[in-house]
Amino acid sequence: MSRRGFLAALAGAAMSASLPPARASAVDERRIKVAPGEARFSGEDGPPTAAWTYNGTIPGPALRLRQGQPVRITVENGLNEDTTVHWHGIRLPNAMDGVPGLTQPPIKPGESFVYEFTPPDAGTFWYHPHADSLVQLGRGLAGPLIVEEAEPAAFDRDLFWLLQDWRLTKDGQIAGGFGNMMDASMSGRVGNLVTINGTVPADLGVRAGERLRLRLANASLARMMALRFDGHRPVVLAIDGQPCDPHEPEDGRLVLAPAMRIDIVLDMRGDPGSRHAVIDDFYDGLAYTLTNLAYDKAFPFRSHPLDAPLALPRNPLPEPALANAMRQVIVLQGGMMGGGKLASVGGMMGMGMPGMNGGAAWAINGMSMTGDGHAGMAPQFTLERGATCHLTIRNETAWWHPMHIHGFSLSVLSRNGATVPHRQWQDTVLLAPKDVIECAFVADNPGNWMLHCHVADHQMAGLMTVFRAT
Ligand code: C2O
Ligand code: CU
Ligand code: CU
Repeated sequence: MSRRGFLAALAGAAMSASLPPARASAVDERRIKVAPGEARFSGEDGPPTAAWTYNGTIPGPALRLRQGQPVRITVENGLNEDTTVHWHGIRLPNAMDGVPGLTQPPIKPGESFVYEFTPPDAGTFWYHPHADSLVQLGRGLAGPLIVEEAEPAAFDRDLFWLLQDWRLTKDGQIAGGFGNMMDASMSGRVGNLVTINGTVPADLGVRAGERLRLRLANASLARMMALRFDGHRPVVLAIDGQPCDPHEPEDGRLVLAPAMRIDIVLDMRGDPGSRHAVIDDFYDGLAYTLTNLAYDKAFPFRSHPLDAPLALPRNPLPEPALANAMRQVIVLQGGMMGGGKLASVGGMMGMGMPGMNGGAAWAINGMSMTGDGHAGMAPQFTLERGATCHLTIRNETAWWHPMHIHGFSLSVLSRNGATVPHRQWQDTVLLAPKDVIECAFVADNPGNWMLHCHVADHQMAGLMTVFRAT
């Protein structure tokens, strides 16, 4: 039995010991309909904004699944263009990964596709389209996905903040102009309105003494975020769904690039009646208050901080064997350079994306794969099943890139030569301009997998590649 199969069997045994057998094996059935609808950024009674929705809501319904329990999700396409759903961060069979052309035929208008998988890892994930990604994500298609731990962890409340960034016109509608060369070759389509769970956030009511688990997910096309909780000390419990050693972030700032998730624990140590800002100050000179923590005036809910352990149980990830790893290097190239010039990129893969005004602006190792995924994308490299891949990602551009791997989670080893602490695993690794990251993973999941920048404009304009695990 493979290590993965063995771990899965172990996890299965643990599950069936703690759950009634009928429940553990029963397939969880869900339905999602993709269709045009409306967003209400300022609340139920506010003016509508035309958007694209999952089951009629922005964001889509929160899917709560159980670790080790099979799920079957029927997705029906009510748009008048092709779509797919990608279950971002879930280590699932390749055929369920939702990349059009590469892992499945696109879901045509009026048609359905049935996704079936068993989530191996508990944690915080999300789902989104992988067809016409820039437009579909930009028109609102995204939803939270939670895989619950077998044993519930000790928190007073478990909250999910799905953060979205919108570029709106003066009359409050989603601006067109997706994929223009400016956005594509620079920072991507950064918008002018940030929402939490589909609305402009009101204050978050909290009680002194309570312990929150807050699951943060950045579902923006391009906006990077760095959140600070004034007067509070968040502790990071998990990154991209994978538990790490609990730690306070550097300078108390939670850096959250597009597609990244961070689970934090927040002990509410403020005074009853007090109010504290949650600030995003990623971009120099453009800090803004995202929301406020507003304490109830009542007496503390608990007089001493809860002293339950913070660490979440680790997921069954295969440990890389670095000694005999296969080394691969990925170099990120292109984009706008100083003086308004596009860096020249090497070869181009002739798959010009209709709707992209400018074609390729970026490349990986001299090759530009544009769009979302196509049949016949040649893998950049091939890994033997079970082999450890030691992957170096080098950013030679002048821009930030959250690089995302499908089908696997990466053990992040070093950044610019310095060891990355806290035993972190990530599916989306943020590289600052000129950063070099080293990471590793075990190629235990066969198939052709995407590796791309999650700034949607960058992906569409060539910052994407494919590799194969046999
Ligand atoms: Cu979140 Cu290739 O995807
Ligand atoms: Cu993904
Ligand atoms: Cu990028």
